[in-house]
Amino acid sequence: MNKIVVTGGLGFIGSNLIELLLEKNFYVINIDSCGYASSSYNFNQYNKIKNYKFVKVDLNNKSKVLKILNTHKPKGIFHLAASTHVDRSIENPKDFITNNILATYNLLESIREYSKINKKYKLIHVSTDEIYGDLVKGKASENSYINPSSPYAASKASSNHLVTSYVRTFKLNAVITNSSNNYGPRQHPEKLIPKLIYNILNSKNLPIYGSGNNIREWMYVKDHCNALLKIFKKGKKGQIYNIGSGKLVSNLYLSKKILNLSRKKKILKKDIKIIHVKDRVGHDFRYSLNSLKLKKKIKWKNKTNLTNGLIKTLDWYFKNQNFFKEFKKNDITRRIG
Ligand SMILES: NC(=O)c1ccc[n+]([C@@H]2O[C@H](COP(=O)([O-])OP(=O)(O)OC[C@H]3O[C@@H](n4cnc5c(N)ncnc54)[C@H](O)[C@@H]3O)[C@@H](O)[C@H]2O)c1
Repeated sequence: MNKIVVTGGLGFIGSNLIELLLEKNFYVINIDSCGYASSSYNFNQYNKIKNYKFVKVDLNNKSKVLKILNTHKPKGIFHLAASTHVDRSIENPKDFITNNILATYNLLESIREYSKINKKYKLIHVSTDEIYGDLVKGKASENSYINPSSPYAASKASSNHLVTSYVRTFKLNAVITNSSNNYGPRQHPEKLIPKLIYNILNSKNLPIYGSGNNIREWMYVKDHCNALLKIFKKGKKGQIYNIGSGKLVSNLYLSKKILNLSRKKKILKKDIKIIHVKDRVGHDFRYSLNSLKLKKKIKWKNKTNLTNGLIKTLDWYFKNQNFFKEFKKNDITRRIG
């Protein structure tokens, strides 16, 4: 059975990726430090199955990470562990240096050692469209200028550069993926879509930063995970792949759409409003990815349109309201940054 290590597998995308890998009969070793954004919701069931193993480890503990690699000899390492909330990176940039730059450096060093005993592995370094910064018009391709705005985006860009340097200098077998905004089950409610749903379920108004005209490219998380699996199978050493859905909408449009869908589905108990709150400092106006390389070379296609993805997402949070109890209320409601 092919073994795969997933870092950050108790987080939003990592947990969805693990579900997919287990469906495809991989043996998964999940490494997570159990930070505030992690959750075991719906995940304890996996501890009973023989092809899943969870290890609580911080990636900055290089010897433990190396021991896991040398013991299990994984064919694939999907690196998703990171600090991920832009607002938190404005409030406390240091965590982002530690968890995104230093942790990636430690993982790369562990893989460098591991590659001496096993050449048959591939690292998939999962990153973000935010590294390209604000795009007033056009799309960012894999060769575009790296121009991060927030400490989060800068730390992710740094981690990408580290991976590129380890491929070139130490011949590590790695690829980098830059994905657009994801949504779906099991995302921490500090992020836009689950926060809106949390407020809808609790009859609270929906806060939107600034004018709400900021544009993001939204992708259903399972489509992202499918792309990652395809890139693991077909991606070429040292290559960078953008992963975008092509669906760009403003935050205001998105909020109205979610509100309307929850009205239609009768999830809304009492009428609530969208309210404009103080904007995020340095808020990027627009991201947009050119994902042609992924479509042509990897033959990946986005399957879930925004309406269907949002319906699935609303349904999931509605049926799984206990998920919100996994997190401190203050972490959901406090304005950060
Ligand atoms: N969510 C998005 O829309 C999006 C879009 C593009 C790229 N990404 C990237 O995808 C990855 C996963 O994002 P997410 O939204 O699932 O994040 P998340 O915040 O939901 O989960 C991150 C997980 O990483 C773990 N972690 C953090 N630091 C760690 C460390 N030092 N050692 C071990 N574990 C650690 C946390 O405990 C958490 O479980 C990140 O690298 C992020 O930059 C996310």
